[in-house]
Amino acid sequence: LRSIVWQDGCLQLLNQTALPGKAEYIACRDWRRVAEAIRRLEVRGAPAIGAVAAYGLVLGARELAAQPGDFRPALLAVAGELRKTRPTAVNLFWALDRMLAVAGRYGDDTPPTAVAAALEEEAGAIYREDEAVNRQISVNGAALFAPGSAVLTHCNAGALATVAFGTALGVIGEAWRQGLISRVFVDEPRPLLQGARLTTWELRQEGIPVTLITDNMAGWVMRRGMVQAVIVGGDRITARGDVANKIGTYSLAVLAREHGIPMYVAAPLSTFDFSLESGDDIPIEERSADEVTGFGGVRTAPEGIEVFNPAFDVTPGELVTAIITEHGVLRSPYREAIAGLLEKTKGGR
Ligand code: MRU
Repeated sequence: LRSIVWQDGCLQLLNQTALPGKAEYIACRDWRRVAEAIRRLEVRGAPAIGAVAAYGLVLGARELAAQPGDFRPALLAVAGELRKTRPTAVNLFWALDRMLAVAGRYGDDTPPTAVAAALEEEAGAIYREDEAVNRQISVNGAALFAPGSAVLTHCNAGALATVAFGTALGVIGEAWRQGLISRVFVDEPRPLLQGARLTTWELRQEGIPVTLITDNMAGWVMRRGMVQAVIVGGDRITARGDVANKIGTYSLAVLAREHGIPMYVAAPLSTFDFSLESGDDIPIEERSADEVTGFGGVRTAPEGIEVFNPAFDVTPGELVTAIITEHGVLRSPYREAIAGLLEKTKGGR
């Protein structure tokens, strides 16, 4: 099942809040519904958010082109609303900037329908590139594993979180097919259970042996020698290799260091924010207290309790063994490695 399908001017999103119970698509014909889907996590995962926002802008452009009014400022306003949906995954901003750069290539005398068509073409390019990038990351990352390794992954960095195979799960799938990975441990993670609900579901579909654990079991699993590596995705990576990813990633990195286990991050170039040096400057999304005080509509904490609910944390580059990209595997010192990546690709991702 594809997470994102663009067909005849309609964006179909596999509803990730309904999985694994129901596999149903949400049909978005309006950019406002796309923004809502990103906010509600009906679609989630950094590369998927980028691709979906690009199509959101296409829907906005088509709507604006069909009505009288000043097309350009209105298009910028739509992009502005899409930008507000989630703050941490830089792929959202990367995709919208890329889309607006395309619109900017056309003069004011260009009919808005032609700009909308060019934007649809660009969104398609972002979509197709993500698939190619996923494949390359998978191949680059698989080479890191010794035969028979068991690995631990966190949250969901799979086909659901991207356009095609995923980043961390793409690597796992490729390494499994090569006989290098024997089993995948998946933690929950609290509060929204993307691992327990989505990653287990994806791995099962691929026939990869999977063991679900709760978040607080990771240290013991490492201590007992049950995993030989940790591999996760990323939402934003700074110029010195600090990695924002789903809350709990930092704890796993600290545990991995203590147990002498490599900590790998798999992410495309579109997840790098070359403008930021330190992870301290990454905006961290804080979500509703309801996500922590209960689950599935059942309240588990006392009424009125104070809650801290950051959706992401930042793992300092020092704790990351390697960053797997479509352009190769980066290792510390990351400042130099990432500067080299920027130079190699000239920032064009
Ligand atoms: O809040 P989410 O579910 O969007 O968080 C997702 C993650 O943290 C993923 O690990 C990350 O986006 C990488 S997805 C390839």
